[in-house]
Amino acid sequence: MLERKINIQIDPKLCDGCGLCVKVCPSETISIINKTAQITGDESLTCGHCIAICPMDAISLKNSEFGKINFNTFTYENKWIKHGNFETSELVRLMLSRRSCRNFKDNNIDKDILEDLIKIGITAPSGSNCQDWTFIIIPTKKDVANFGEKIGEFFKRLNKLSKNIILRKGMTLFGNKKLEFYYENYYESVKETIELYEKEGIDKLFHRATAVIMVGGLKESSCPSEDALLATQNILLGAHSMGLGSCVIGFASNAIANDAKLKKDLGIDKKEAIYSVIALGYPNEKFRKLTVRKKIIPRYITF
Ligand SMILES: Cc1cc2nc3c(=O)[nH]c(=O)nc-3n(C[C@H](O)[C@H](O)[C@H](O)COP(=O)(O)O)c2cc1C
Ligand code: SF4
Repeated sequence: MLERKINIQIDPKLCDGCGLCVKVCPSETISIINKTAQITGDESLTCGHCIAICPMDAISLKNSEFGKINFNTFTYENKWIKHGNFETSELVRLMLSRRSCRNFKDNNIDKDILEDLIKIGITAPSGSNCQDWTFIIIPTKKDVANFGEKIGEFFKRLNKLSKNIILRKGMTLFGNKKLEFYYENYYESVKETIELYEKEGIDKLFHRATAVIMVGGLKESSCPSEDALLATQNILLGAHSMGLGSCVIGFASNAIANDAKLKKDLGIDKKEAIYSVIALGYPNEKFRKLTVRKKIIPRYITF
């Protein structure tokens, strides 16, 4: 059940009845009665559009868990940037400068910075403004290394299973091609990765990252994976702007999704799922040029 209770109040003494809040409200919560805005609806998304648009500061939050995001390591001006009033070329340069980092320095990231990254994450939009995302922080290099070993154990078991040809073919016969696909595409590289770690201590899973942020969500929320992945991209860009390198580790999310023991260790219950695992740390590399991408051909469809 989506929470849609009304978390705003309107001060009739300040309101001049301009009606801007009524026009901008997506949930028809407000009406103008006798030249004053009044709450007439019985639900609200608490998107805050009305608060942001009111020229008289007549609308405020009441007893609310919602509020301005305050960061530990920087401040920002609480002033809206008009559409078109930002240098797109600079935004794109930032996006193209973020590259997956697989080469980290040894120093840990301050807790204040890790928490700021999460707050940067939650500036993302979310389905029905649910904000039902969850975040787990693995805070130090040592913790990440220990976590990596747990994930390594999962892949050792998976490799052993997928090596079994009878099991693979049997599953395929019953329409489940997952194990065959894994064997064909990942078995060898995972085997090499495990051997490299065990023989030479080389970490090809988290790349010796010094922190991990996992972004999850409540499965019953309206769009949990979309919400988590939008927050993830914000975190990746925020990390770059704050001098950190990042890398999404799909192998880790895959392991968590399929290993009950890992879920238990991370305190993940049936209601929650992890949609991304982000390795973080201070980068030990400098690039000179920007990212390249495949060419895209959009499909135009007219009706
Ligand atoms: C869903 C997802 C899963 C990924 N999993 C891994 C991974 O397990 N290990 C890794 O080193 N990189 C991983 N990456 C990083 C991609 O390889 C990388 O984004 C891609 O090569 C493009 O490079 P760029 O991020 O530097 O632009 C993943 C990226 C995404 C989006
Ligand atoms: S935007 Fe503000 S001033 Fe205008 S009607 Fe709404 S509450 Fe009143």
